[in-house]
Amino acid sequence: MSRAYPTPDIDQPTPLLGGLTPREFMRDYWQKKPLLIRQAIPGFQPSVTIRDVQTLARREEVESRLITHGDKGWSLKHGPFRGFPPASQPKWTLLVQGVDLHDDESAALLRQFRFISDARLDDLMVSIATDGGGVGPHVDSYDVFLLQGLGRRRWRTSNQADRALVPDLPLKILADFQPDADDILEPGDMLYLPPHVCHDGVAVGNGCMTLSIGFRVPSQATLARGLLESAADQLSAQHLGDPGLYGHPCLPGPDLSALYTDADIPATRQPAALPDQLVQATLDTLQRVRLDQAVAARFLGQWLTSLPDNALFDPADVSVSLAAAVPETGHLTLDRCTRLMYSGAQLFINGEVAEQACEPALAALADQRSLPAAELQGLAPTTLALLDEWLQEGWVHWTDD
Ligand code: SIN
Ligand code: CO
Repeated sequence: MSRAYPTPDIDQPTPLLGGLTPREFMRDYWQKKPLLIRQAIPGFQPSVTIRDVQTLARREEVESRLITHGDKGWSLKHGPFRGFPPASQPKWTLLVQGVDLHDDESAALLRQFRFISDARLDDLMVSIATDGGGVGPHVDSYDVFLLQGLGRRRWRTSNQADRALVPDLPLKILADFQPDADDILEPGDMLYLPPHVCHDGVAVGNGCMTLSIGFRVPSQATLARGLLESAADQLSAQHLGDPGLYGHPCLPGPDLSALYTDADIPATRQPAALPDQLVQATLDTLQRVRLDQAVAARFLGQWLTSLPDNALFDPADVSVSLAAAVPETGHLTLDRCTRLMYSGAQLFINGEVAEQACEPALAALADQRSLPAAELQGLAPTTLALLDEWLQEGWVHWTDD
């Protein structure tokens, strides 16, 4: 029987956050300072075994790393792997990303943190380690909750300013790690780390498993690049004669599909010099592209709902057609891999922009990841037809109550 991990109410104190409410945690700790939480999940038992983690690391589409260190220094290998060092050999660790995509209970564990937007949630990484195993002292640029699953791990953290790295290593290891906190975590204990806190987690004894609930932190350059690519798509859409792509007349004024012209350009004695006219024409294109809230949301919605390679759906035998008749009981649930987000009327699913506007029932499905039959009654036939398509893709599932 799989364990349920409900998302805590944002105003209720919760053991998950050491007795803080999610609102207090976000105000006082999120992106600000570490928090050690003893027995965040009392009696926690991971739903995956050490063997499951190894099995995943053998798969082509799963991202995994094997890190060992010893007399010969540090070594880093990327999966897929055909075998692993023996459990009796100390100082190695295997890290597997995206475990939530393969296991419902791991996905449910992740959803317990949905007092933080899905836009920030990344994945569940699971690491296994033998005695002394770890990735070395380092800094990450994302927020993470490190939940101890099996065995014990010693976590040391530091706010030091010195970020110099040991040169010429396959991993980024801090040259001079000076910890100011030192704690041993047991199963169910959890450590929250904001970006840029130096840390080092070392297995104490064999059979250590740590689950990392990770949050993506896009760089400003990533956001700018994505937005500008989205803007460039507007040009292509115009070129392909698809002005409706953005759902509103976003390209007033000159026809951007038009080719650059320089019929008036004189003969040159400096053929290597970039023509000022071309430079200006380049700048002018951006002035003509609309960079507004809708375009930014469209880029973010598509990008943040796009799926990693190991998100695989089972286009199931669909026994129900909602467009034909919504059953009186039962409920619709998103597949563990499905990413469904919205912004105003825009709706995004698994990297696609839905043709349908996001009505309240679809927003509720996105927020709750499940919707009872009663809330589907009376929806427009086009909405029900869209949900039928998602059922056929295996993106959502129907369960009889
Ligand atoms: C882990 O070893 O499980 C976590 C690695 C890290 O500190 O980022
Ligand atoms: Co780290």
